[in-house]
Amino acid sequence: MTVLGLVGSSCGGLDTRFRAELAAPAAGRGHRLAITLTPAAHRWLDAAGELDGLAALTDLPVRSVSRLPGEPRPHPDPAVFLFAPASANSVAKLALGIADNQALTVLGDVLGDPAATIVVGYQVQDTRFRHPAWRRHLDTLAEAGVRIRRLEYGEPWSDILDLLPGPTP
Ligand SMILES: Cc1cc2nc3c(=O)[nH]c(=O)nc-3n(C[C@H](O)[C@H](O)[C@H](O)COP(=O)(O)O)c2cc1C
Repeated sequence: MTVLGLVGSSCGGLDTRFRAELAAPAAGRGHRLAITLTPAAHRWLDAAGELDGLAALTDLPVRSVSRLPGEPRPHPDPAVFLFAPASANSVAKLALGIADNQALTVLGDVLGDPAATIVVGYQVQDTRFRHPAWRRHLDTLAEAGVRIRRLEYGEPWSDILDLLPGPTP
C-alpha cells in the first residue's frame, strides 16, 4: 500500500474539509496516510473535534510535533506527498527552506528529491499575488518539480487528489 504523506496547514475550511475532502477520499483511493499538521492546523482540528476521525483513517499517528532524540520515527518515509491546504505562510517557508515545525520538516527533507512526488494545493486570497515574493515562491517550488495548484474558494478540495500518482497495492 502506498504511503501518502498528507500535510495540512491552517487555511479557512480546514476544520470541516480536511478530513471530508482530502483525508477520507485519499484513504478511500487506497493510500496509507501519514498525516502531519502545522501547529496551528493541529490546534484548529483539535478544537473542532476532528482529530479522532482523522486518526481512524490510518494506522499511523497524526503528527504535529517533532520526536524527541532517541524516539523512533513515527512515520515511514513516503515517496508521495500532498500538502493541502497549504497556507501562504507555509508555502513561503517551504520555498525558503524554513523548517521550524514538523510539517515543514518532512516536506523540506524531500523537496528536490527526484524520487519523491510532491503535490501542493495552496489556498490564498487574491491579494497575496501583490506580495513581491509570492510568485517567486511558487516558481521555486515548481522548478523543484512540485505539482502546484491553487485551491479555489468554493471548489471541492478533493480535485487535487487527481494530481497524485495512483496508489500501488
Ligand atoms: C479563520 C482563518 C482562516 C484563514 N484562512 C487562510 C487561508 O485560507 N489561507 C492562508 O494562507 N492563510 C489563512 N489564514 C491565516 C493562517 O492561518 C496564518 O497565516 C497562520 O500563521 C498560518 O500558519 P501555518 O502555515 O503554520 O498553518 C487564516 C486564518 C484564520 C484565523
